[in-house]
Amino acid sequence: MSALDSNFLTLLRVHLVSVLKLPKRIIRPNKTNRRSDQRMSSAKLDQFQTSGRPTWAEIDLENLGANFNVIKKRIGAERRIMSVVKANAYGHGAVGCARRLAHEGTHWFGVALPEEGIELRDSGIAQPILSLGGFWDTQASACIQHQLTPVVYRLDMVQALNQAALEAGVVADVHVKIDTGMGRLGIRFDQLSEFVDGEAVKFFRERGYRPTHLHLANSPGVWGHSEGWGNMVRPGGALYGLWRDILPPAAEKPGLAPVMSLYSRITLLKWVPQGETIGYGCTFEASRKSLIATLPVGYDDGYMRGLSNRAHVIVRGTYAPVVGRVSMDFVLIDVTNVEAAEVGDKVTLIGQEGELKIPAEDLAKIAGTLSYEVTCGISERVPRLYV
Ligand SMILES: Cc1ncc(COP(=O)(O)O)c(C=O)c1O
Repeated sequence: MSALDSNFLTLLRVHLVSVLKLPKRIIRPNKTNRRSDQRMSSAKLDQFQTSGRPTWAEIDLENLGANFNVIKKRIGAERRIMSVVKANAYGHGAVGCARRLAHEGTHWFGVALPEEGIELRDSGIAQPILSLGGFWDTQASACIQHQLTPVVYRLDMVQALNQAALEAGVVADVHVKIDTGMGRLGIRFDQLSEFVDGEAVKFFRERGYRPTHLHLANSPGVWGHSEGWGNMVRPGGALYGLWRDILPPAAEKPGLAPVMSLYSRITLLKWVPQGETIGYGCTFEASRKSLIATLPVGYDDGYMRGLSNRAHVIVRGTYAPVVGRVSMDFVLIDVTNVEAAEVGDKVTLIGQEGELKIPAEDLAKIAGTLSYEVTCGISERVPRLYV
């Protein structure tokens, strides 16, 4: 018996979901639609910044909203957007981001796990929520109870959910996940066509299912492959303004603005004589008398060790190099060339100050990873400040 043609599925509504490895393409710009209704007052900001360790991530909800509207304009009013807010909205804070995206009119939310969906429900999010990773053995009832829609890709998942729906006396939706090439989750496309020749949607329709939603496209798909848009798209990274290492190398900019900035403050300044080494493993030796500043941020905060001796930060409108090894709780920077650097100066580790920029994508490149891992990696001990 197959999950697809058994008739015990009467309590489940079937939709299609799929993941495709999408090649990349040139990007066209769109104007952003800026709003300022959720900005934090500067008084509140100051209070926040002095209330604990001076290391924080600023989440620009205005840019998040603008990015959502760039995507909306790109795909057209006839299609829906599922905003992917899994992994704590790629480190940006799931609840704060979901509230803003709901305000902007997102139709769906995408999470990786039922637990993430429950967090959104508990915070009052009412939009449909898709659990993109499905659910685990004991979670079928929780999905029903919290009105979470999971993807399914195994017969026993369908059975468990059907049973939970029966017990609760409700009709539950599922999205059937088809593996179109990632080889990760989903029913293999060629296993579907063993039953019926032709493509998956036709296969379902011929068996009497009427999928409401057909969706395939993540951020690169939104920019590169309109044929994969279906009637809903599932962007994540683009919402958070992460695109340089996600979308194709672009002749033009896509009009997406970064949402997360990471800041700290100088907590100690000291002169180090020429020839002296600093940091674990003595990996940096001062080639001149150097003014070294200590920042209370380290790899436990997500500022990766791979950035040691390689990244820069911005202080007082000047790039300053990270010197020595990034340690668990502290980073050292060379501020010899920064005019009048002082204890308490704000330091930009990710973000923009005037013309100077440090995108998450640049840090990712230095550390040999992806911008998503940079923002996801900003740990829980770094407070998020929504501005
Ligand atoms: C199934 C699925 N859909 C959509 C997305 C969103 O992808 P992106 O952040 O590249 O837009 C992800 C992210 O990993 C995903 O796993």
